[in-house]
Amino acid sequence: MMQTPNLLALVLLYTSLFHSLAFSRSQNQPNYSYNQKKNYEGSSDLVDLKYHMGPVLTSPINLYIIWYGKWDPHHQSTITDFISSISSPAPFPSVSDWWRTVTLYTDQTGSNVTRNVALSGQFSDRAYSQGKSLSRLSMQSIIKNAVTSSSSGGPALPLNYSNGLYLVLTSDDVQVQDFCRAVCGFHYFTFASVAGATMPYAWVGSSGAQCPGMCAYPFAWPGGGPPPPAGSGVVGPPNGDPGTDGMVSVIAHELAEVATNPLINAWYGGDDPIAPNEIGDLCLGVYGSGAGGGYTGAVGKDSKGNGYNFNGVKGRKYLVQWVWDPVRGRCFGPNASD
Ligand SMILES: *[C@@H]1O[C@H](CO)[C@@H](O)[C@H](O)[C@H]1NC(C)=O
Ligand SMILES: *[C@@H]1O[C@H](CO)[C@@H](O)[C@H](O)[C@H]1NC(C)=O
Ligand SMILES: *[C@@H]1O[C@H](CO)[C@@H](O)[C@H](O)[C@H]1NC(C)=O
Ligand SMILES: [Zn+2]
Repeated sequence: MMQTPNLLALVLLYTSLFHSLAFSRSQNQPNYSYNQKKNYEGSSDLVDLKYHMGPVLTSPINLYIIWYGKWDPHHQSTITDFISSISSPAPFPSVSDWWRTVTLYTDQTGSNVTRNVALSGQFSDRAYSQGKSLSRLSMQSIIKNAVTSSSSGGPALPLNYSNGLYLVLTSDDVQVQDFCRAVCGFHYFTFASVAGATMPYAWVGSSGAQCPGMCAYPFAWPGGGPPPPAGSGVVGPPNGDPGTDGMVSVIAHELAEVATNPLINAWYGGDDPIAPNEIGDLCLGVYGSGAGGGYTGAVGKDSKGNGYNFNGVKGRKYLVQWVWDPVRGRCFGPNASD
């Protein structure tokens, strides 16, 4: 799951059901202090990422996007091009080079996470089938609706219980339980009793209007505090919209985690499976070498001065957080300088 970065925390603490963050922001918290941010760009003995014997996503993934609410087609293509970039060639360092780190994770048979992620279908839930205020469980009903609604004679999306992965994306005007307060996205799996089968899914919300400073960092500054100091690491969004470019990195985080911990019994750290510390969580805020203290790390700049670290299809550029590399034993991305 992708927590809202709590920049005051020295130690990450996690809590209860569906892995939400233990410390929520208090009303009278002090100003953000980036220099205390915990990350694991350097290897750390504190990291206890372990394999818990469950499956990882080794078969080619059929990814289905459910666009919940009203979406701008430009923002949609930023996201669909990102998904297409995971398994497509692009100039180094590319999004697919980044995904290679995720494929270093294996299951107990020694099979690696797949390199193939295909965007296999999309469904627009323009009618807000579950309303505009959603619980975590609502995500399963949204998926159920998408696989049972008909669209030109067939189901809108297949119920692909063998290698389907459902990505629910909610628009700016949709409230989600814990969104902005404790999480920017999460992943889990559907219950057969609700959705018809047990299938991994992820949800990510559009934070552009609700909490860009929380969930679209480093493209926006956390509200409430003083303006960003010089060298704060706030960067321009490479695809022109802070909310959408912010979502891309959260989507990347969730896909990396759902691929390595789809049933919450494979790769995670900590003793509590309902509050796991997963491969993206360990590298929150790390986009390049030297990251820390609110600094993204060394990343590239496009012709307009916007930040990015990876190339994608169609000449796209994206700024995506790193993930934990099990071989190197540290956070890593292909733009690393070491
Ligand atoms: C936060 O920063 C603002 C502006 O610098 C300042 O007025 C305010 O007192 C600070 N609040 C705390 C709790 O430090
Ligand atoms: C599979 O994962 C192992 C262990 O991380 C790694 O050594 C190997 O190179 C990976 N194989 C492929 C094909 O990615
Ligand atoms: C899942 O999707 C793949 C690719 O479209 C298809 O070959 C497979 O039959 C589907 N499986 C199910 C159970 O729908
Ligand atoms: Zn996470």
